[in-house]
Amino acid sequence: MTFHREETIQIPESDLDGMSLDTLAVRAGQIRTGQLEHSDAIFPTSSFVYGSAAQAAARFGGEEAGNIYSRFTNPTVQAFEGRIAAMEGGERAVATSSGMAAILSTCMALLKSGDHVICSRGVFGTTNVLFQKYMAKFGVETTFVSLTETKEWALAIRSSTRMLFIETPSNPLCEVADMAGLAKLAHDSGALFVVDNCFCTPVLQRPLEHGADIVIHSATKYLDGQGRCVGGVVVGPHKHMDEVYGFLRSAGPTMSPFNAWVFHKGLETLPIRMRAHCDNALELATWLEQQPEVERVYYAGLESHPQHVLAKKQQKGFGGVLSFCLKGGREEAWNFIDATRMISITANLGDVKTTITHPATTTHGRLSPEDKSRAGITENLIRLSVGIEAVEDLKTDLYRGFQVLQNASNT
Ligand SMILES: Cc1ncc(COP(=O)(O)O)c(C=O)c1O
Repeated sequence: MTFHREETIQIPESDLDGMSLDTLAVRAGQIRTGQLEHSDAIFPTSSFVYGSAAQAAARFGGEEAGNIYSRFTNPTVQAFEGRIAAMEGGERAVATSSGMAAILSTCMALLKSGDHVICSRGVFGTTNVLFQKYMAKFGVETTFVSLTETKEWALAIRSSTRMLFIETPSNPLCEVADMAGLAKLAHDSGALFVVDNCFCTPVLQRPLEHGADIVIHSATKYLDGQGRCVGGVVVGPHKHMDEVYGFLRSAGPTMSPFNAWVFHKGLETLPIRMRAHCDNALELATWLEQQPEVERVYYAGLESHPQHVLAKKQQKGFGGVLSFCLKGGREEAWNFIDATRMISITANLGDVKTTITHPATTTHGRLSPEDKSRAGITENLIRLSVGIEAVEDLKTDLYRGFQVLQNASNT
């Protein structure tokens, strides 16, 4: 069968107007080719052909919409972008090669030398390094403040402040920011409010509805959900996304068609996965809080969490990530981690498989001792990204860790 591009059938987004997020996750952004496949096609091609030299010129000149070259136009990538934009409630999404590339592209597109950024202290370690080391090299200075103390943010504002950047809940301590309060502060100061929504995903929280200008994801985490690909995405209004897209077109931190396909399919099961992650995490957090070897549990679903009420207001669930401090230090934390048999020792999160990590020596290992201590990354801290296995089996595996600690204290 000859395939003509004109035969491509795109389900009009207007057909999905008013539909729920569960439906958008499965139906938004679908592109069907003339083959009428039910699952989505992948377009693993670097370039596209034109019917004539004139058409090529029109495409390059921007007079005719259509595919040109996969650094900046690819139908599979666009399908993923359309779906995640619909789910976040944003006008446009731009997919990138990683979550860090999403943050970098946002900064490169929307900041310039001399601008000032305020960033929460408890962000992913590499985000901290990106601002502190690399953005600083290009004349963008960053002040780090407590995620939860809105007063600290207000005090840090300068006439040159152009961006407020947060993760909420934060990695790994699950602190929760007052998004509406920070959005107001940003807008009163002429700054953009950017939220890394990696931990909640649009299923649990839609930052644009709370005043955020831009939402960022490491798609590597829950959007994929099965630990297969690295990718990222930025969502927001056309005026900002056109700039981010312009940077991507020129600099090339592009998502591959194959990865886009994996993420696009991953989104279809995101709502049901997130609900399973939340149920398991709440049950484990409650159980961990009762263990005598545990000093403290960090999970916004617990009433003991300082921002529990705020999290309940802002989020539809508390997410799959929790952290806890054991009584002791690095030795106890490492012994506990090593005693588990089923849970995977890996720094990735958002997988259907439960993962365990020691943030002080992995995800946040590049922070200086002072920055670690300010961010609350202690040596006895363990982070769990709770998967969707049977929760009783997770308890059995974690109990192996507690037994090792008990045996050590008896000798
Ligand atoms: C909250 C958060 N944002 C961004 C990133 C960076 O994403 P990537 O590893 O896809 O570059 C991570 C990675 O762990 C993360 O946890």
